Amino acid sequence: MADDNQNQISSRSSRIYDVVIFGASGFTGKYVVREALKFLNAPNSPLKTLALAGRSPSRLSEALKWASAPNPPPKIPLLTADTSDPNSLTRIASQAKIILDCVGPFRLYGEPVVAACVESGCDYLDICGEPDFMERMEASYHDKAAEKGSLVISACGFDSIPAEMGLLFHSRQWTGPSAPNRVEAYLRLESDKKIVGNFGTYESAVLGVANADKLVELRRSRPKRARPAIPGPAPPKGSIIEHQKQLDLWGLKLPSADSIVVRRTLSTLTENPHGLPGVNESDENRKTREAFWSTAKPAHFGVKLGSKSLLGLFPFIMFGVFLGLLSKVSLGRWLLLKYPSFFSAGGFRKEGPSEDEVASATFKMWFVGQGFSDSSLASQGNKKPDTEVITRVMGPEIGYLTTPIVLLQCALVALKERDNLPKGGVFTPGIVFGATDLEKRLQENGISFDFISVNSLSA
Ligand SMILES: NC(=O)c1ccc[n+]([C@@H]2O[C@H](COP(=O)([O-])OP(=O)(O)OC[C@H]3O[C@@H](n4cnc5c(N)ncnc54)[C@H](OP(=O)(O)O)[C@@H]3O)[C@@H](O)[C@H]2O)c1
Repeated sequence: MADDNQNQISSRSSRIYDVVIFGASGFTGKYVVREALKFLNAPNSPLKTLALAGRSPSRLSEALKWASAPNPPPKIPLLTADTSDPNSLTRIASQAKIILDCVGPFRLYGEPVVAACVESGCDYLDICGEPDFMERMEASYHDKAAEKGSLVISACGFDSIPAEMGLLFHSRQWTGPSAPNRVEAYLRLESDKKIVGNFGTYESAVLGVANADKLVELRRSRPKRARPAIPGPAPPKGSIIEHQKQLDLWGLKLPSADSIVVRRTLSTLTENPHGLPGVNESDENRKTREAFWSTAKPAHFGVKLGSKSLLGLFPFIMFGVFLGLLSKVSLGRWLLLKYPSFFSAGGFRKEGPSEDEVASATFKMWFVGQGFSDSSLASQGNKKPDTEVITRVMGPEIGYLTTPIVLLQCALVALKERDNLPKGGVFTPGIVFGATDLEKRLQENGISFDFISVNSLSA
């Protein structure tokens, strides 16, 4: 077993590229390239060799030019690979320590990339926000990935790192005997220009809603996961729209991937209360990891979209209604995909946001947690939460600035700390990166984690 691990470690260290960005010519991909270039051969950076991969060398070359401007493009290998050609994927996966996959919708294009990475023992990180893809990959590839020494981690973008790391940060504010029962995250997108997403994300959302029943089917066919012990009763379902007094925000329930990913992280933690052991970790790292996870306090978790006015939620409600009504039938899907701007009230465009629109957008995500000043109160019949803690994660535009930042920082942790991460398997980002220095790295790169307040709740 130890020899086996050693062989995999030495096979990884002999690979030509530290990182290959697949789908580098895409809208998000080119922003990921721009972020990666900041760290390529920078002092103390473990990123020494980088290649870009995609279907078209000329589009890759354009993306590299855009990403390096105003500097001339550095000499970086451009590799040709197509998801319909498994050999091309094996070729890139066998040359790389990590593939950063930006080719979506993942339900259409992701699986062959995961398969090639697992087979080649290469690590795979992506920016997927599609829960059905993530859970399908876990069901199909976890055991093989564990055996082959390939880490497969989806949702390393805005979906769902701010939620995962934000909840862990929030949980650490419940010190001593106090413990949260429920945490509601309120996401507010801000800009003095229009807030716009690219068509790739829109298409992924349309196909996700269209295939929602497949996820239900998949879950039915899988063994039940462990549920964390959370003090106090499960919170009531609550209304779809509500007013949050402390934040003075209207909140609309978001069926985002975040709460699903967080739930999977909490299940893995319940099954592994000390977190996941590193493949070749030091004693010191084992102690740090165990100490970190011993302070994590799970809670019921949900996400809401926040707006200063009820009217501000209206376009999102209408988009949700259109998605629900039209995505289930092929004519409806055709209409949705043909006219993204109309159905999303300008929220998504075929050509994506302008650079100015990207640069002027920001997000704030407040975590409002309610729980008990003493968790033993919850089992003594005093079942109403008596304490409220508010924390916040804040950063630049979500899709094309925050997503590349978090994806790159995850990759840098995986390069630098590979011995301290699990040998392989399909996991959520929180359980793999929670106990590493990812949060500190995000803080250093423009994504802040702040404690806001703690209050007593009246009985
Ligand atoms: N987690 C988050 O918060 C977050 C943020 C942003 C984006 N995303 C996700 O990222 C994905 C991409 O979004 P996007 O807006 O960047 O889309 P996009 O602009 O359409 O980019 C798609 C990329 O995939 C490539 N591609 C398509 N089919 C391929 C195939 N068969 N083989 C190889 N490459 C192929 C395209 O290459 P060509 O240049 O050759 O066409 C392009 O590089 C979506 O699923 C989106 O939801 C997630």
